[in-house]
Amino acid sequence: MSGLQLIATGGAIPGRTVTNEDLSRMVDTSDEWITSRTGIRTRHWCTEDESAATLAISAAKQALARSGLAPAQIGCCICATLSAPDATPSVACQVQAALGLPEDRPALDVNAACSGFLYGIAVARGLLTTLGGQYALVIGCEALSRLMDPADRSTCVLFGDGAGAAIFQLSDTPFALTLGARGSDVLHAGGPNRTGSAPITMDGKAVFRFAVDALPKCLHTVLDETQLTLDDLEWVVCHQANSRIIDHCVRALKADPAKFYKNMDRHGNTSAASIPVALNELAENGQLQPGQLLACIGFGGGLTWGGMIVEY
Ligand code: ACO
Repeated sequence: MSGLQLIATGGAIPGRTVTNEDLSRMVDTSDEWITSRTGIRTRHWCTEDESAATLAISAAKQALARSGLAPAQIGCCICATLSAPDATPSVACQVQAALGLPEDRPALDVNAACSGFLYGIAVARGLLTTLGGQYALVIGCEALSRLMDPADRSTCVLFGDGAGAAIFQLSDTPFALTLGARGSDVLHAGGPNRTGSAPITMDGKAVFRFAVDALPKCLHTVLDETQLTLDDLEWVVCHQANSRIIDHCVRALKADPAKFYKNMDRHGNTSAASIPVALNELAENGQLQPGQLLACIGFGGGLTWGGMIVEY
C-alpha cells in the first residue's frame, strides 16, 4: 500500500475571540477594510494558559478518540508548526507524552509554514513505509498571535491561532501528494538567533502573486497524477490565507466556488493549522462523508507549497 486515507479528525480553537471591531480599537483599521481585503471577520487568539502545544494535544486527543484506535497503534506523530512554544521538547513529543503514544515510534515537528500540514503528511507516509506501522497522527497547530506585532495593522488583522489533527491509514485508495519550495523572504517571522524582536512581516502583493500561481499548479499536479477531475472531488480545501486568493483561483480554474471550502471569516489565517481545522469542521458537520475524495492545497512562507488528493 503506497497511499494514505484520512480516517479521523480533531480540532481545538483557543479561548480569546477577537473581532474586526476589537482590532479597530487597537490599531487604525476597520471592519470594512479587513473584510473586503481578506474575508476575515473574527479570529481566535491563545489565552495566557494556551499555546500551540496545548491546542495540539486537545486536537490530537479528539482525533484519536474518534478513530477508535488505541495509542499503541499510532506509528508516528508529526506536528507542523512555525510557532512551537519551545525549541525542545517538540510539540510532537509533548503530544506523545500527553496521549501515551508508543515510545518506539518517531515524533517530530516540521516547519513549512502554511504548507506544513502537507509536508507533515509526506513525512508521516515516509516514516510508515520505512519503519512500519499502519496509522499516522499528523497535526497542524499555531499560536501566531505570539509572533505578531499587535501594533502592525498590516499583519495583526490577518492571523489567528488554532490546531487541527488528522489520523491517516496506509491505503490503496486514490492518493497523490506534491510539494515544492523556493527560498524567499517575502514572508518572514523571526527566530531566537535574530537580534531584537522580529515579528511577522510580509510583502502582501508578492505573496498574493505567488499564491495565485501556486494554488492552481498544485491542484493540476495532483489531479493529473490521480487521473481525476475536479468533478470527482467533493471538496477543495485550500490554506485559508485570504478569500481573494481562493476567489481568484476559482475564477481562473472556471471551477464551482461551492467546492472550495472557506472558514477564514471565523478563524483568520492559522498557517499550518488552517487545512486540518477545515477538515475537522467538514467532518464534524457531516459535510464530508466516508468514501468522498478531496484535495488539500497549501502555500506560504518559505516559500513553500503542496497539494494532496485523499479519500475520507
Ligand atoms: N487597515 C487599514 N488599512 C490598512 C491595513 C489595515 N489593517 N493594512 C494596510 N493598510 C493600508 C496600507 O497602509 C496602505 O495604505 P496607503 O495606501 O496609505 O499606503 C493601504 O492599506 C494598502 O496597503 P496594501 O498592503 O497595498 O494592501 P493590499 O490591498 O495589498 O492588501 C493584503 C493587503 C490583504 C495583505 C493583500 O496584499 C493580500 O491579500 N495579500 C495576500 C497575502 C496574504 O493573504 N497573506 C497572508 C499571510 S501569507 C500566507 O498565508 C501565504
